[in-house]
Amino acid sequence: MSIAINDPSCPPMISKAPIKVPPTAAVIFGATGDLTHRKIIPAFYHLAKNGLLPDDFAIVGFARRPKSDDEFRDDLGKALQEFSHTKPVDEAIWKKLSEHIYYFQGELDDAEAYKKLAEKLKSLPESPTIGENYLFYLATAPNFFGVAAQNLAAAGLASPHDGKRSRLIVEKPFGEDLKSAEELNRTLQGAFAETDIFRIDHYLGKETVQNLMYFRFANSIYEPLWNRLYIDHVQITVAEKVGVESRGGYYDHAGASRDMLQNHLFQLLTITAMEPPASLDGQSIRDEKVKVLRSIPTPSLDFLQKNVVRAQYGGGYIGGKPIPAYRQEEKVDHESLTETFVAARFEIDNWRWHGVPFYLRTGKALAAQFTEINIIFKRPPGVLFAADGNDRLRRNSLRIRIQPNEGIGINFNAKVPGKAETELVDMDFLYRSGFDQYLPEAYERLLVDALVGESTLFTRSDEVEQAWRLVDSLHTLWDKQKVRDLPLYACGSMGPVEADLLLEREGRHWIRPKEIK
Ligand SMILES: NC(=O)c1ccc[n+]([C@@H]2O[C@H](COP(=O)([O-])OP(=O)(O)OC[C@H]3O[C@@H](n4cnc5c(N)ncnc54)[C@H](OP(=O)(O)O)[C@@H]3O)[C@@H](O)[C@H]2O)c1
Repeated sequence: MSIAINDPSCPPMISKAPIKVPPTAAVIFGATGDLTHRKIIPAFYHLAKNGLLPDDFAIVGFARRPKSDDEFRDDLGKALQEFSHTKPVDEAIWKKLSEHIYYFQGELDDAEAYKKLAEKLKSLPESPTIGENYLFYLATAPNFFGVAAQNLAAAGLASPHDGKRSRLIVEKPFGEDLKSAEELNRTLQGAFAETDIFRIDHYLGKETVQNLMYFRFANSIYEPLWNRLYIDHVQITVAEKVGVESRGGYYDHAGASRDMLQNHLFQLLTITAMEPPASLDGQSIRDEKVKVLRSIPTPSLDFLQKNVVRAQYGGGYIGGKPIPAYRQEEKVDHESLTETFVAARFEIDNWRWHGVPFYLRTGKALAAQFTEINIIFKRPPGVLFAADGNDRLRRNSLRIRIQPNEGIGINFNAKVPGKAETELVDMDFLYRSGFDQYLPEAYERLLVDALVGESTLFTRSDEVEQAWRLVDSLHTLWDKQKVRDLPLYACGSMGPVEADLLLEREGRHWIRPKEIK
């Protein structure tokens, strides 16, 4: 592991400064869990592989079950073989990294355990050079976020002093409504400075989401059109092919609105709609993002009644695989009213976007797995081409593909060869073929940024709260409706017919993703 300055394999996202990860001890709470094995350790391995970790670096895993350092390293090594997104795993790199990985057995709500952790951190072989510079990663169930932060503070591990650093990464979900998010913010801010709290929304770590800012602000051809004068509407879709699988217990309390809309979809919306920031620092960018959310007035119940659709998947097959109806899924209430699909039409009431609908939809057990943003421009005046009865002039659109097949496509009307007709054609940029560089996974980008204290790609407390304000308004409506059943949609479809009607009644339609022929 050696420090790479301006390594092209993992360039800084927005920051113009070279990446230089300082000596750090990273503590992962929830170290025996799925996220650690699937994402966090593979991310650390790729950072080491790309020369982004310093020699003075240590990782301490914190969880309840008894384990020796060697057993822990062994488990992580096996997981890496399975989940690394580059294969084969470089054994020499892993061996070197794993020698700096340790295990600590403790209970998250036991304050004494944190005092012992503090002692352990001071006695690591790497401690003399690392000093008291820490990154704490809360990869635990959300009910432990607050107590862990408080216990860290009580053990003297939270407050930086004498040039020492102490940062906290918090996983999602962040609260379950506005009130709980505000409470959690207060608790975390009672222990750590806001600038040291890194709330993860892994969508922000995706290269394609970051590229959206480059696309908008590093080019002169799109931004002049990026407003109500030229844009007819915007569609943002996060579609999942899988059902709830083993996550029924959590999901049945969350639903699509809390699990996806509150975070990923609103994050995509803010980056699509924000004003150019004063500078590229975290504060300026997040100021602009939060302004977008503030410009969406809390919708009235009447507005929501007309502009929000929720539904549940019925049983069926996707790709030959049987999927039970949502209410029959493991750990789901048989009379559950939790939505597995939500579509909503929001309006951003500011100068740039007044009158432009933003249609957001997300759901499970859908026809395809994809995330994209579609910007649909106003229809061109058809005067020249309508004269001969050609009514095929269609709206131009930009398809920003977040995943898979990351890239950007432009649709425009072209002349059909040999005929006096037009047809909508595609011009596509594919991220993977456009660049030779290594495409880092979201967690790699986010870990580096938290390690260097770059907060742009993390959600600030006010952003989280503004997003909850909007999701809470949906739940207020749904509570009032007192329905006994939700509309069902077929597994492998793109949601209920009501979601199509949401657009069709305004003369629009959802743009079909390329995955669905
Ligand atoms: N998995 C994913 O892909 C994913 C994706 C996005 C977000 N997340 C978020 O990441 C967090 C972790 O998810 P996960 O899937 O990794 O959960 P998980 O597999 O259930 O792991 C939970 C971890 O917490 C530890 N733990 C539980 N109770 C504890 C206690 N009282 N004291 C100490 N340790 C305790 C468990 O270890 P022991 O049993 O050994 O104590 C285990 O290491 C959640 O907030 C989740 O929403 C996960």
